[in-house]
Amino acid sequence: MADVKKAPAGAAAPPASPVGSPDGITRRQMLRSSMFATIGAFFGTMAGGGGAMFWPIKLTGFGAPVPVPKKLNEIQVGDVVTVRAGKYYLTRTDDGLMALYWKCVHLGCTVPWNDAQKKFMCPCHGSVYNISGQNVAGPAPRPLDYMEMEVGKDGTILVNTGKIHTRSVYDPSQATKV
Ligand code: FES
Repeated sequence: MADVKKAPAGAAAPPASPVGSPDGITRRQMLRSSMFATIGAFFGTMAGGGGAMFWPIKLTGFGAPVPVPKKLNEIQVGDVVTVRAGKYYLTRTDDGLMALYWKCVHLGCTVPWNDAQKKFMCPCHGSVYNISGQNVAGPAPRPLDYMEMEVGKDGTILVNTGKIHTRSVYDPSQATKV
């Protein structure tokens, strides 16, 4: 008869030996852990993405308010200030200030200011606009678009390049009185 050793009464039974892993983790535990890790990563990504969606984005440059690099008292009637960051020209006439979007309303070329001619002259198909943006020659069907602006008490000028207006003809009420 074989000699069978019995554990002393009251002693805890030895743990069942794990199957499939030398680290003591069963296949089931491993699958469960990776399942929870996957679900956690999924919801973590969703929460991060969703949170980012509602986080205010600080816009700079075109599409946001872009200041004119000169103050009002530095801009005389007849001046045209190019503001590349905002893609506009700040012009001053007897009617006031205008921020003209530099995109040609014909087919979208950038329209440069010709200081000798005192006109905006599109190099693509020859549209010509005056200092208020009114089209005066070429195929452009209407004046250049213009942007909203605010003039501070200290003479700073802030143009909102996200607020662009189209028009069928120039009217002095479109200019900001100063
Ligand atoms: S894009 Fe300016 S005239 Fe055609």
